Amino acid sequence: MSYSIKDENLYVTGLKKIDWVSKNMPLLNKIMETYKNEKPFNGKKIAMSIHLEAKTAYMALILKKLGANVFITGSNPLSTQDDVAAALVKEGVNVFARYGCSNQEYEEDLKTVLSCIPDLIIDDGGDLVNLLHTKYPEYAKNIIGGCEETTTGVIRLRAMEKEGKLNFPMIAVNDAKCKYLFDNRYGTGQSVWDGINRTTNLIVAGKHVVIAGYGWCGKGVAMRAKGMGAHVIITEIDPIKACEALLDGFDVMTMEEASKTGDMFITVTGCKDVITKKHFYLMKNEVILCNAGHFNVEINMDQLEKEAVKISERRNNIKGYTIANGKTLNIIAEGRLVNLAAGDGHPAEIMDMSFSLQVLNAKYVMDNREVIKNKVYNVSDEIDSYVAKLYLDGKEIKIDNLTTEQKKYLDSWNF
Ligand code: NAI
Repeated sequence: MSYSIKDENLYVTGLKKIDWVSKNMPLLNKIMETYKNEKPFNGKKIAMSIHLEAKTAYMALILKKLGANVFITGSNPLSTQDDVAAALVKEGVNVFARYGCSNQEYEEDLKTVLSCIPDLIIDDGGDLVNLLHTKYPEYAKNIIGGCEETTTGVIRLRAMEKEGKLNFPMIAVNDAKCKYLFDNRYGTGQSVWDGINRTTNLIVAGKHVVIAGYGWCGKGVAMRAKGMGAHVIITEIDPIKACEALLDGFDVMTMEEASKTGDMFITVTGCKDVITKKHFYLMKNEVILCNAGHFNVEINMDQLEKEAVKISERRNNIKGYTIANGKTLNIIAEGRLVNLAAGDGHPAEIMDMSFSLQVLNAKYVMDNREVIKNKVYNVSDEIDSYVAKLYLDGKEIKIDNLTTEQKKYLDSWNF
């Protein structure tokens, strides 16, 4: 076993956090019970790059119980929880991550995880797969395949596939219905507000909240903002999504317009330069800005730093940037994912679904290793429906089944 973390003595609170989520992740527990004797990952090395907090740690422990030797690092320098990392080490997992690491250290940790010469990859945002293809292509030979957790990672994988550069099969876990409908929408919807509220301790009701991007995440964040009494403004680049936001009852305008009215700004587009210099100078004094998209490129922080005449620590995880017009813009968690860099991420029950998809799809890759190609695969309907069924079963909720007559009716055209 090997590891490189901040402090192995921090494990006590980490273990408590993992124990708490373990009681609220019944799907993963059920999957573990189902496959614990079979041990589908026996003798296999799994390299993971994923936000290293309690739910992820619990998934890593389940994979270990199912036979894997797990090597894990974070997927963002600010989302690793050091006590959870220490707890994982205590439980015999190889961990290479610490909160607040530099970009160079972050890449070093990714590299160390890859140097285990993995059989399977679990990635969140595509950094592991990207590094492997660009700097360590020799490791690809050993890889059976892997799974990608988030929208941005899937976009990167599909771009690699299109250029014929993908060297092993990857499953787009993000694109499963049981992922984006629940994790991206309800998970991000709740946890983004948890991160903002605990960090700012300000009221949301009555504020003009600008949300950039009305995709699955943006919809969730907007829905919860409305519930808390905000005046919600959406910015979009897709006319269909803009119509959807309008008909859902929100104001839609350009970021330039919204910059003049907003009190709080949340970017969640997966795109870059959504808020830039021209917007900073239109904003009101003391606005709050944060990002929930995967990378910290949505608010142009380089430009903000250049424009700042003064940068001050305003509160834990909030920096105030005073620009030349005398106004101060407050940035939460350096423009990194607010729900993870300033919170604990999505609720455990939501990640239970997402991580059940991860484990089942990693098993799918193993089971189908002889037939799957170097492509990006969607999650099968069978696995997607199975996870939904497990969720309902856990709540003792039954749904109706089609009768033979109904099936026939739905499959026919000539009644
Ligand atoms: P999506 O593709 O469903 O939605 C993105 C939306 O942003 C689209 O409607 C698109 O038209 C819009 N958009 C793109 N560029 C824009 C721009 N310049 N200005 C305004 N709107 C723009 O993607 P989804 O699933 O909502 O994910 C968004 C981002 O959030 C991704 O980076 C994803 O990886 C990340 N994510 C973050 C999570 C978290 O825990 N914070 C959880 C899941 C995803």
